[in-house]
Amino acid sequence: MVMQKTSELIWQDAQHQQLFRLIDQIKESRVDNSVFKKLNDYAEYHFMLEEQYMLELDYPDRDAHKDAHNKFRRELATMLEEHQSYDEDLRKSLSLFLREWLMRHVLGTDKKLERFIMESNSK
Ligand SMILES: [Fe+2]
Ligand SMILES: [Fe+2]
Repeated sequence: MVMQKTSELIWQDAQHQQLFRLIDQIKESRVDNSVFKKLNDYAEYHFMLEEQYMLELDYPDRDAHKDAHNKFRRELATMLEEHQSYDEDLRKSLSLFLREWLMRHVLGTDKKLERFIMESNSK
């Protein structure tokens, strides 16, 4: 993999913004159900990329970070399976739940990984 040589992890930040946008779409009143599929696919793409970095850099907290991703993967898989039966209220509360989860993950777990990748880049 080609490591990014900038002072910021632009890809990680941009991907998080896209995840938040998709999560917000879930609660829109005339939501297209394909948004669950898009969110699921995009989250998978993002998690895989972070996990690839962790593997290549031999990141010490890799297992705990992957466990956190796996928990999110399970939530999304359930939503993808059952989204046909959701009404607007339920979609609103799920969107809020996902947003809060992702916010905590981005500010805590992902921030630690970001610092580690940046330090590895500057060596
Ligand atoms: Fe992560
Ligand atoms: Fe992330």
